[in-house]
Amino acid sequence: RLSRRNIGWVMERTLSSAVRNILKQAGQIADSMGYKIYAAGGLVRDVLLGQESLDVDLVVEGDGIRLAQELGKIYDVRVRQHPKFGTAEVVFSDEFKIDVATARVEFYAYPAALPQVESSTLHQDLYRRDFTINAMAVALNENSFGTLIDFFDGREDLQYHTVRVLHNLSFIEDPIRILRAIRFEQRYGFKIEPQTLKYLKETVRRGVLARVSNERLWEELKHILLEPEANSMLRRMGELAVWPDVFPRVNYWEVEPVLKDLPQSMRQISDWGMMPLNSRWLVYFIAVLHWSDTGVARNICEKYGISKRQTEKVLAALQGWSRAVALIWKAPQYVKVSHLAKVLLQMPRESYPMLLAILEDEKLKERFRQLLNIIEDSKPKTNGKYIKHLGYRPGPVYREVLDALWRERLDGNLRTEEDEHAFVRDYLARVTKRSE
Ligand code: CTP
Repeated sequence: RLSRRNIGWVMERTLSSAVRNILKQAGQIADSMGYKIYAAGGLVRDVLLGQESLDVDLVVEGDGIRLAQELGKIYDVRVRQHPKFGTAEVVFSDEFKIDVATARVEFYAYPAALPQVESSTLHQDLYRRDFTINAMAVALNENSFGTLIDFFDGREDLQYHTVRVLHNLSFIEDPIRILRAIRFEQRYGFKIEPQTLKYLKETVRRGVLARVSNERLWEELKHILLEPEANSMLRRMGELAVWPDVFPRVNYWEVEPVLKDLPQSMRQISDWGMMPLNSRWLVYFIAVLHWSDTGVARNICEKYGISKRQTEKVLAALQGWSRAVALIWKAPQYVKVSHLAKVLLQMPRESYPMLLAILEDEKLKERFRQLLNIIEDSKPKTNGKYIKHLGYRPGPVYREVLDALWRERLDGNLRTEEDEHAFVRDYLARVTKRSE
C-alpha cells in the first residue's frame, strides 16, 4: 500500500526557505540530468511532525556524485566525494552539510521520463534504514515535488507514536539501532512497538552491542547526552539492560536519583547565569560516573577517547563531590567560605548540576547558590601590579600573597580596596621578615 499523499504544503510551512530552495534546486538539476531524486529519512519524519529540519539526506536514482557536484557549483560550495560508496557531501558550512546518496542497482535503467512508479532502487535504499518513521521519502523532481513515498506505513506509525523496525534482523545488522530506538522513543514520547521491543531485547541479550566500535558507540551516546530528554533515554537504557555494554561496571540504579533531577538542576543553574551549555554532555557524563571509583571512570573515558582535559574534569568531580556536599551540609558558622570555595573550584563547573541534585534540600540548594555568588563577587580588585608598584620583584611570593588575599576576601574580612592594599602590604612585610 503506497501512500501517494502530497506533503508539499507541509514542507512549505515547516522548512526554512534556505532548505526549500536547496530541495527545489536539487529537483531541477535532477530533471536536467534525467534522474529521479528524493529527500529521505529524518527530514520527512520531522516535516510530518510539523518540525523544522536541517537534515537534508538526498537519494538519487542516477549518479549522485555528479548531481552533488552540480549542486555545489550552483551554490559555490565544497563537495566531498566518496566514489567507493557513490555518496557525496555538499558542505554549505561547518554546521550545514547535505548528504547525497546514489540509490544503486543499474542507475541508467530508470530514465525519469518513464512514468514508472517509484522504482525498486529507492525501495531498497529505504528498506536498509532503521525504523519505519525514518524510512519515508519525498519526491523532489519538479512534476512530482512533495509526493510522499511511504512503503512501510511510516506515516501511520508516526500518527500512532510508534517506533518499529522494518524487519527482524534490523538490530543485528546494526546494533547501534538499539540506542537509536531508545533515542527516538524518548525524544518524541513514542513507544517501541512490542515486536520490535522483543527483537531489541533479544539483541541486547546476545551481547551484540559489544561488537560495535567504540567510536560509533560514542557518536550515538554523545548524541543522546545532548538531547533535552537525555535523562529519560538513560533511564530507558537502564530498563533495557543496555548499561553494562555502554557504561561497563556502572550501575544505573545507583545514579538514577541524581540523573532524574539533573535537567531541573541544569535549568536552575542556568537561571543563575552560570551554566556552560557547550558541554551539556559532560554534565550527564559526570553524573553517570559520580558513584564509580576512579578506575572504572578512567576506563570509560578511555573507551570513548575522552580528551585528557575532560577526563581530568571527570576525575576531579568524582574526587570532590562528597567533600563539597559534606561541607555544604555543615552549619555555616563551622565552615570557612574560603575552604569550601577551594573545594568547589577544584571541581569543574559541569559537575555543579550534579552537586545541586545531590543536595536535594531546598535550603541547601540556596546555600550553594549563595556560595557561588560569594565566589563570583569575591575576586580581589588588587592584582600583581600593585605588588610590583610596592617594589617587590616578581616571583612565587606574588601567587602566595594573592591567594591569601583571595581567601580573606572570601571569608569577608576585607571590604574595600584600601583594606586589600593594607592586607597586601602587611603580608609582604611579614614574608620579608620571615626570609631575613
Ligand atoms: N539510519 C539508519 N540506521 C542508522 C543510522 C541512520 O537507518 N544506524 C538512517 C535513518 O533513515 C535516518 C537517516 O539514516 O533517518 C539519517 O540518520 P541520522 O542523521 O543519524 O538520524 P536522523 O534520523 O536524521 O535523526 P536526528 O534527528 O537525531 O539527526
